[in-house]
Amino acid sequence: MMSKLKGKIAIITGGASGIGEATAHHFAVHGARMIVIADIQDELGQRVVESIGSDKCSFVHCDVTDEEQVKNLVQSTAQNHGRLDIMFSNAGIFSNSAQTVLELDFAELNRLFSVNVRGMAACVKHAARAMVEQNVRGSIVCTASTCGSSGGERDTDYFMSKHAVIGLVRSASKQLGVHGIRVNCVSPFVVGTPLLCRYLGKEAEEAEQLFEPYTSLKGAVLKAKHVADAVVFLASQDSELVTGHDLVVDGGFLLK
Ligand SMILES: NC(=O)c1ccc[n+]([C@@H]2O[C@H](COP(=O)([O-])OP(=O)(O)OC[C@H]3O[C@@H](n4cnc5c(N)ncnc54)[C@H](O)[C@@H]3O)[C@@H](O)[C@H]2O)c1
Repeated sequence: MMSKLKGKIAIITGGASGIGEATAHHFAVHGARMIVIADIQDELGQRVVESIGSDKCSFVHCDVTDEEQVKNLVQSTAQNHGRLDIMFSNAGIFSNSAQTVLELDFAELNRLFSVNVRGMAACVKHAARAMVEQNVRGSIVCTASTCGSSGGERDTDYFMSKHAVIGLVRSASKQLGVHGIRVNCVSPFVVGTPLLCRYLGKEAEEAEQLFEPYTSLKGAVLKAKHVADAVVFLASQDSELVTGHDLVVDGGFLLK
C-alpha cells in the first residue's frame, strides 16, 4: 500500500470508464479515504465501486452538463465525508463526425462543449467553492489533451474544447492560489479507452499500437495507468508547488 493520498476525499468525474476508472484504482492504492465516482453510466460506475470496495468508493449519478447536478455532487460529498480534497474533472466526449472547419456543425459543437468545456468549468467552480468554504488547500486536476496545444486536421470542436480546458486551468489557478488551491491538467496523447476504440472501431491494443510510431520514446505504448500516475502526482503533495501546469503524458509526441 502506498500512501501519497492517505485519508483524502476525492471526486472523479467520468470515473466509470477509461482514464477515470484507472485513476480511481490508483487513488485507492495510494490510500484515498473515499473516492466518489461521478458518471452517467450507472452500471459501470457501480462495477468500479464493487471492484474497489464500498468502504472506500461510492457512485453518484451526475451529468456534468447540468450545473445543479454538479453542485449536488460536490455538496453531498463534502457533507457525507466531511470535506473535499481532490476534484479530478475528467468526463469528456469525442467528436461525432469529422468537423473540419468547412463543415462545422454547431449543434454538435454545442453538445461537445456542454460536456468538455461547460461541464469541466462547473466541476472546477463547485469544487473550488467547497474548498474555499471549508478552508481546504485542495487540488483540482482536469483532463485536457495533447489536442489542447496543437491543431487538428479534423475534429475541430474537440481540439477547440481541449484548448478551452487549458485556458480554464490557467485562469482558475491564478484566481484560486490565494486560497491555497492548486489547479492543473493532464494532457494524454492516445490511450486505448472505450472513447478511442468507439471512434476508431478498433480494439484497445490495436488502437494504441497504431499511434506508437508518432511518439519519440520508442516502444512506449501509452496506457490509462500512465495518465493515472500523472494525476496522482498532481493530486498529491509531491506537486506541492505546481499549479497552472499542463502535464503532458505523450511519450514525446508533441516534441518539435
Ligand atoms: N482516450 C484518449 O486517447 C484521450 C486522449 C486525451 C484526452 N482524453 C480525455 O480523457 C478523458 C476521459 O476519456 P476516456 O478516454 O477515459 O474515455 P471513456 O469514454 O472511457 O470515459 C469517459 C467517461 O466520461 C463519462 N461521461 C461522458 N459524458 C458525461 C457527462 N455528461 N457527465 C458525466 N460523465 C460523462 C462517460 O460515461 C465515461 O465513463 C476525456 O476528457 C477525454 O477527452 C482521452
